[in-house]
Formats: sequence, C-alpha cells, structure tokens
Amino acid sequence: MPVLVIVGGQWGDEGKGKVVDQLAENADVVVRFSGGDNAGHTVINPLGEFKLHLVPAGIFSSRVLCVIGNGVVINPAVLMSEIAMLNKSGVDTTRLAISNRAHLVMPYHIMLDELEEKSKAGKALGTTKRGIGPAFADKTNRLGIRTCDLLDKVGLKERLSMVLEGKNTLFTKVYGAPPMALEEIYTKYCEYADFLAPFIKDTEMLLDEAIRQKQLVILEGAQGALLDPDFGTYPYGTSSSPLSAGGCLGAGIAPNRIDSVLGIFKVYCTRVGNGPMPTELMDETGQMIREIAHEYGTTTGRPRRIGWFDAVAARFSCRVNGLTSVALTRLDVFDTMGTLKICTHYMLEGKKIDYFPASVAELEKCQPVYEEMPGWGVPITEVRRFKDLPKQAQKYLKRIEEVMQCSVNMACCGPSREQVIQLKTVI
Ligand code: IMP
Repeated sequence: MPVLVIVGGQWGDEGKGKVVDQLAENADVVVRFSGGDNAGHTVINPLGEFKLHLVPAGIFSSRVLCVIGNGVVINPAVLMSEIAMLNKSGVDTTRLAISNRAHLVMPYHIMLDELEEKSKAGKALGTTKRGIGPAFADKTNRLGIRTCDLLDKVGLKERLSMVLEGKNTLFTKVYGAPPMALEEIYTKYCEYADFLAPFIKDTEMLLDEAIRQKQLVILEGAQGALLDPDFGTYPYGTSSSPLSAGGCLGAGIAPNRIDSVLGIFKVYCTRVGNGPMPTELMDETGQMIREIAHEYGTTTGRPRRIGWFDAVAARFSCRVNGLTSVALTRLDVFDTMGTLKICTHYMLEGKKIDYFPASVAELEKCQPVYEEMPGWGVPITEVRRFKDLPKQAQKYLKRIEEVMQCSVNMACCGPSREQVIQLKTVI
C-alpha cells in the first residue's frame, strides 16, 4: 500500500478536509504535517459537521491512526478543546498520536502575532492571529518549546523562564506592552502536559513501521501552495511549507517513500488575508460566488476574496508539488452561473506571460487573460458519474485539466462524503 500526500493547490480552503475524510475510509494512517490551528478543515459526514483545526480529518474512520506530525505547531488549549468536542460527538480519539518533536504555540506567540501585525499598519499580512508565525520563527531561531518538553516539568520551567525573559524584554521595551507572568504560563502548560502526555509519541517510528507493513498512509496538508514561504506570494503567506516536500519533513518520511501527490483545487480561487491575487473579482460576480459558496473563513470568519480559476498559478502549483493527480472541488457552485472564465495567461507590462512571478510587485501588475466557457445551468449535486454530468460541465472539467497540464481524477459536487465523481483512482 502506498504513501499519498494531499496538498492544497491554491491559497488554502480548497476542501482538503472533505477529500481526506473520504479517502481515509480506506487508509490506515493519516498524518497532519504542517501549519497549526490557523487551518480550518470542514468535514461533513454521517457523524455530523465538524470544523477541525489540528486533529487530522482521518479521525472519523474508526481504524485509522491519526498523527499530528513534528511539522505542526500545536496550541494545546485548542487541541484539547477539539478532542473534547470530538468525544462529545462520539468520535474516538484514542487513536491520536502527537509527535514528541512538534513545537508548541505559547501565549506570547499569540500576543506577538497581534503586536507585529499592528506594527505593520497598512502592510499587515492579515494573519489568523493564532501565533503561528512567531511559533515557527522561534522554532527556526532555536527558542521553541516542544511537546517532549512537556514530559519534563523541571526542564520545561527552566526553558520557559529563559525564553520568556527575552519575550518580556521585547514586549516592554519595544512594544510598550505589559510582561507575561512565568508562573501563570507554567501552571497552565503543566495542566496541558498531564492531559496530552499519553498522546505524545515518537511518531516517526510509528510511520516507518506502518510503511514497512505496507499500510496506506495519507499525509494531510494544511493551507495551500501559494502561501508557501518559498514559492508563495512572499511575504504574504504562512510560515511552514504546505507543499508535498513539506510533507516529508513535517511527518518524518523520506521523499523516496512517497508514491503519489494529490492536489486539491477549487474551480475558482479564494484567498483570506492580504497579498496579490491576479484573478480577484471585485464585482457582483465575486459577491455572488461568495454567497452561493458561503466563502467565509473557518478559523476567523473573515469573508474570503474570490477570483476566477487561475491556471497560471495552478500550473506552477502542479510543478512545485509534483502533483500526480488533481481533485477539483465545489463544481456545484457554478450550477447557476452563466459564463465561466478561466485565466490561461497574464499580461505583464504589455507582454503575455505564463509563469507565476516571484515578486509581489510584479504579480500585482499582472492582468489576467481569460478564456470564456458557458455554464451548465442545472444542479449537479446528485451526479456521481462523469458521463452523467451536463456536457458543458464535462467540457469545463476537461478544459481545466488541459490548462493545468495534470490529470483531474476526482470532482466534488457537494459538501458531503458521497458527493464525489471519481474519474480515476488517486492512489
Ligand atoms: P498565519 O498563517 O496565521 O500567519 O497567516 C498568514 C497568511 O496565511 C494569512 O493571509 C492567512 O489568512 C493565511 N492562512 C493561514 N492559514 C490559512 C488557512 O488555513 N486557509 C487559508 N488561508 C490561511
């Protein structure tokens, strides 16, 4: 059985949770490998509707081992309330394992996220204010506190007091903010430690064993390629890699053990937060799509920015992720739309280009070149086979496949597990 990585192909919120939930029915292990509780994965299945921020979407399949990998930053309070919410709905969370190498989001990270955003004024990134950027900065700066530190309370206090001293200097001397109290944070994190200790494991060894046993392992990404710190619209992005390569690092699985990479794309684009978005719709069409699709952030409730499908960005995303196939989501959102547009190229200073520029200043100048296609004008939410789709919907899917230069193997036409058209297998 193979290892499959599932990644977001755009700016996040593509519907990864739904696809993972569906594919997890046949999986043995599902691993979240990046981000933190900035992510919001919505899953609708026979057990109800769930909004997950940290627990892998595989948790609903009763035999699946769910792992929060070393590449995730964990806010223990959020994780504990998510576990409690799942248990209340009858979902068994004893199959959850947390990497002992994962970093923790601390209260000072959340405060710093807020202060740093405020200090950028008009140039704010529009973060989720969950402390994710500061937590990953501390990881890289070797000032992080990890889940394994929770298992040694004496060591935890020493490390916390060293790190907090630096943060308090920053708060008081740079931002004019009040300092944070060591005892208060320490006591809280000791309580979290007592609760989380049974889940904290050397998960990289569990995954190695699962792969040796030929089990089906799914690596579940968070956010999307265009928010990647290297390949996204830097600096308007997130702080850990949502790419397939991030899956290797964030789960502790070597690249030669990955068999396939599935990219999830909506049939249009959305973005929350600031930064360039060449196909953004500032008109009533954008407003209409937002309302039909209820495009409001799962984590922050912010209205999502809407744009037509951007094939330039999508081709780039296919390439940097090494996608072996694509799942298109939210096809049904177009049921009542007249004309549909696909951006095939950009115009940049009078030149037609088909690459995704590195510079945000250049991207902001890019004008989308569109191709138009008629919509299908009938509901497709009950359709389960490609051949039963209206001809125009079939043509639209095939055209997306051509302009993306990657095989579309799944198409979703509704939020629940069964509303999927399987064109080819993805594993
Ligand atoms: P941060 O990850 O909270 O630091 O936010 C940085 C950027 O990534 C902001 O534009 C956020 O809106 C965006 N972002 C972070 N997580 C998600 C997500 O799960 N979906 C969509 N956008 C996200």
